This record gives sequence, structure tokens and C-alpha cells, in this order.
Amino acid sequence: EKDGHKHFMAKEIAEQPTAIDRALANYLAQDNSIVLPEALDFSQIERLTLVACGTGYYSCLVAKYWFEQIARMPVEVDVASEFRYREPPISADTLAVFVSQSGETADTLAALRYTEGKAKQIAGLVNVPESSIARESDIVLPIKAGPEISVASTKAFTCQLTVLLLMALKAAEVRGHALPENVLEDMRALPGLVHQAIAAENSIQAMARDLAGARDVIFLGRGALYPIALEGALKLKELSYIHAEGYASGELKHGPIALIDETVPVVVMAPRDALFEKTVSNMQEVMARGGKVILVTDAEGAKMAGDGVHATIVLPALPDVLAPILYAVPAQQIAYYTAIAKGTDVDQPRNLAKSVTVE
Ligand code: F6R
Repeated sequence: EKDGHKHFMAKEIAEQPTAIDRALANYLAQDNSIVLPEALDFSQIERLTLVACGTGYYSCLVAKYWFEQIARMPVEVDVASEFRYREPPISADTLAVFVSQSGETADTLAALRYTEGKAKQIAGLVNVPESSIARESDIVLPIKAGPEISVASTKAFTCQLTVLLLMALKAAEVRGHALPENVLEDMRALPGLVHQAIAAENSIQAMARDLAGARDVIFLGRGALYPIALEGALKLKELSYIHAEGYASGELKHGPIALIDETVPVVVMAPRDALFEKTVSNMQEVMARGGKVILVTDAEGAKMAGDGVHATIVLPALPDVLAPILYAVPAQQIAYYTAIAKGTDVDQPRNLAKSVTVE
């Protein structure tokens, strides 16, 4: 049942190329038109509210960058447990999107019910199409990841991102904004790139043995890679019980840098993009304080980073807009191999449940 893998998590990480392909096939036609449910009309919507818990929340954070930059639409993102009790005003031109792998998360379902009669439309982005969140949504967008057994979410995350990006591109198209050049062709190349990223696991395995001895780990990222830093930290906490925090790289000097010494590894998620040089200077600040930098980047980024980096994980280069999807893979693998090195229960971490149906 694990297809020769040691854990469901390893199987589900490895399934990502196929899962993303399935999500693409569901929403992207041969002629490169994006096919979403007809009821979803972005010309009638002025803003989005995205709500989820845990890893789904990080999908929403990435989607905020995409909807804002590509479709020029304002986006609010919140965790469901806060959203449901805050009584946020929802304008009648809002599309409320609830992202949930299981479709049964109690807080997310309650948040959905709060928006009933307030938002223009309610969309459920779920992996389980017969779930409560799907049933109560006006529009259901299955992410097509296939059954996810491991408690830690992996392929559901990359499939959520894939579908959210297609939504943002559709919104841009409908609202008359140019799409990033070649983006749909590039998306078709994603499964192959994810496959290559998975193969970077040898360098991760070696590095994870180091990480397993750490008490605290910091993850940094900028732009749409910031939520991936948060996801990397969440995965590491869940699986290895090591305290980890994700920060926006630019926030480092506003506090967290006080934590840095030779015992605190810093994982930097940084493809070679327009902001790369700023990230290099953040890394130098870390290294100047004895911190061990683990850099996740592409070949050009690795070259530009220069000396002093403790370890580098090299991923294939790809267009900026797609980077969050690819960089999710090492975020998962770092946690996976660190947990293996520590000997914790990867598929069934302590205190966690796959589906959180109680508040
Ligand atoms: C993280 C993880 C959890 C879930 C969260 C929401 O690896 O699995 O943080 O993402 O409990 O669950 P769903 O998506 O089912 O609503």
C-alpha cells in the first residue's frame, strides 16, 4: 500500500508530479484555456477572502501574492479559528474561498457558515469532494491530489497551490490583465520539475542528520517564498518536534536575529529572483553571527551566494511565479529526513490528527 516506500509521507511526496498533473488536467484544456466551474465569474467579483487552517493557510498566503500581482485583486487571508469569531465585515462583491484537504476541519466549516449570505459566492477548494465543506460551498474546486494518508500534508499542498494559481490566472484573464509570459506552458512543465526537485533528496538526507541535533531552526523566505518558509517550519515541528519558526527574510533584523548563534541553523528558501541580492545580505548577517545557513536555491543562486554557506540544496531554475510550488518539495523533505534521523513517527506524529473535526 506504500508502493515500496517506507512511509506514506514518502509515497505522497513522490506522487506529487502525478498529482499536480492530474490537477492541471482537470482545469487546463489542451488549447491552454483555463476551465473553472461556470458559476465562478471573476468579472462579478472585486475581492477575495481566503480562509484555512495549518498548511492550507499557507496555500492561501501564497495565493495572495498571485491574486494581487497577477490579477490585481485585493485579498484577505486568515486562519479559520480567528476569522470565525472576529466578525469580519464581508462585502457583497467578495468571493470567499475555503481551502481544506479533508473538507471537514471544524473551524474552516464554521468560517464558511459565517460568510453565508454575506459573500457573493463561497468556493470550497478540497481534496475530498464529498466532504462537508464541499457540500456547503456554492462552487467546489477539487484539487485532485488523491487520498492523503500521512498526517502531514504534502501533495495536497502542492495541488492546492496549482489550483489557486490557475484561479489567479483565470481572474487576470477575465479582468484584462496580461498573464506572465508563457505561464501556462511553464505550468505544464511543473510535474517534471517537481520530479527533479524530489531527486535532490541526497543532499537533503546528509544535511538532515545535522538538523536533527538542533534545538531551534529558523526558515527564511521573501515574497511568495515567505509562506513556504512558514510551511517548512510547520512541517519540521510536526514531524521532528524541533522548534522551528518561519520569518519573512526582511523581518530578521527586527527581532529574530537575536536568536542566531552557531547552534541555530537557518534554512533560506531563495530562488535567484529580483530579490535575491537582498536575501544574500540577510544570509551574511546570519553568517556573521556564526549561524549555519542552509540555502535552497537554483544553480545561479548557489554561485552568487558565495562562500560561507554551510549547505546548499540546488533545485532546477524556473519562472518566479512557479517557485513556491517547487520549493515546497525541499520544505517537506527537510522535515521528513530530519524526522527519520531523529527516529520519530513520520506518518503519525504525536498529538496530531489527520482531520480536525473539533474546535
Ligand atoms: C500540516 C497539516 C495541518 C492541516 C490542517 C488543515 O501538515 O496537515 O496543518 O493542514 O489541519 O487541515 P485541512 O486541510 O484538512 O482542513
